[in-house]
Amino acid sequence: EKGGYDHFMLKEIFEQPQTIFDSLRGRLDAEQQHITLSGVDKIKDKLMEANRIIIVACGTSWHAGLLAEYVIEELCRINVEVEYASEFRYRNPIITDKDVIIAISQSGETADTLVALENAKKQGATIFGLVNVVGSSIARLSDAGAYTHAGPEIGVASTKAFTAQLAVLYLIALKVARDKQTIDQTLFNKLLADLAKVPQFVHDILEEQDAAIKAVALKYADARDFLYLGRGFNFPIALEGALKLKEISYIHAEGYPAAEMKHGPIALVDENLPVVFVATKDSYHEKIVSNIQEIKARKGKVIAVISQGDNIVAGLADDVMVVPQVHEVIAPLLSVVPLQLLSYYIGVHRGLDVDKPRNLAKSVTVE
Ligand code: M6R
Repeated sequence: EKGGYDHFMLKEIFEQPQTIFDSLRGRLDAEQQHITLSGVDKIKDKLMEANRIIIVACGTSWHAGLLAEYVIEELCRINVEVEYASEFRYRNPIITDKDVIIAISQSGETADTLVALENAKKQGATIFGLVNVVGSSIARLSDAGAYTHAGPEIGVASTKAFTAQLAVLYLIALKVARDKQTIDQTLFNKLLADLAKVPQFVHDILEEQDAAIKAVALKYADARDFLYLGRGFNFPIALEGALKLKEISYIHAEGYPAAEMKHGPIALVDENLPVVFVATKDSYHEKIVSNIQEIKARKGKVIAVISQGDNIVAGLADDVMVVPQVHEVIAPLLSVVPLQLLSYYIGVHRGLDVDKPRNLAKSVTVE
């Protein structure tokens, strides 16, 4: 049942070229430059007039939501707020019938997300569900939606469900942007073409980087803490990388926007602290290079996810994990993959049950 892999988590990480492909299939047509998403069409009027989009989720799905905020605001010029479902449901939020809520949930059964949506629906909001489990409670409650086609995810730590969520969120953002005419045809075509290449690129990362990442994992498996830093589109990936490491290895890890490090976390840096930079080539690259230099000046160990051919960061970092270069909007879908593998190999090296981390449930159906 694990298809020759030692753990479901590893199997699911390696399934991603296929699951991302499945989530794009029948929806993304790079040649015809067209996106088909009937769920988005169904609420098109609401989306065109929306005051704002509120994204509601928990955990890893919340990280997908945070990236969606960056992408939707950039491409669609619609105001987006990302909410932890547990907070949103209790704090009497201001909701009107001009709000569109995107609920993100692998299981479709997360109690806080479900109740938050029920409340918002009563106040007239339109609910769009981005769910993996077909027919689940959140799917049924939604006014419209799109399924992620990641297939059943057995590992408690989410991997392939996350990348499937990102794939579909990109499609949603691109479709709305095109409908609203907030991006031009050239950028639309470029992003579509890059998105279409992602399954192959993820395959390449898994093939080419697996052994190197395993070696990096063994080198740092005894660290007590980790810091994960990223800027812009890669900031949510820093958060997700840190969460994955905590869940799988029980090592304390924190994710931060790279520039925030000066406002506190830099006090932690010494020769024992590995700092993972999500540093693919983008418009913030120079800035992140100087953040890396600041860590190196304090003798921190730098592990960096970099774009192929980035000799600058490769020259500064202690260890690198290399991904193909794509447009910066799409890059997070690649940069998360090495971080999944890093957590996996550290957890395995520490002798832990990576498929069923202690104290965690696959879906949190009680508060
Ligand atoms: O099923 P959901 O996507 O609603 O679950 C949300 C979180 O409970 C989930 O992402 C959790 O954080 C995972 N353990 C992450 O690996």
